[in-house]
Amino acid sequence: MSTADIYKELILDYYRNPRNFGTLQTFDIEAHDTNPLCGDEVDIQIKVGEGHKIEDIRFSGKGCAISQASASMLTELAKGKPLEWVKELSKEDIFKLLGTSDLGPSRVKCALLGMKVLKTGVYGYLGSGAEGTEPAGPS
Ligand code: FES
Repeated sequence: MSTADIYKELILDYYRNPRNFGTLQTFDIEAHDTNPLCGDEVDIQIKVGEGHKIEDIRFSGKGCAISQASASMLTELAKGKPLEWVKELSKEDIFKLLGTSDLGPSRVKCALLGMKVLKTGVYGYLGSGAEGTEPAGPS
């Protein structure tokens, strides 16, 4: 099996058994986007924990293997990372996760959909000043 085939298998495996697929009961961030070319969708929810870390993360959506697998891989990578880390994410990081950058222009949009949604959500949260405004729990 060539390296390209191994990565193809990996993408299909994530597509068929997506890690972190679903929704969270409580979350602090939610974002959604579609690929305008095909209508495929990705939705991401994040529970923000201590020190602005991504305590928990889920994604849901529908679409091609690349869009869903890359979103799933990204949620695995993001879990436990500080929100600020999301700002540093680049398309090269996604290509590394997928094991290829040889995707063609329309597939690149598929591959980057999850990252776009994640960035939209985190930027919105960080920009909204939402941090530190959580209602004080019983002490
Ligand atoms: Fe729609 Fe890939 S074909 S996201």
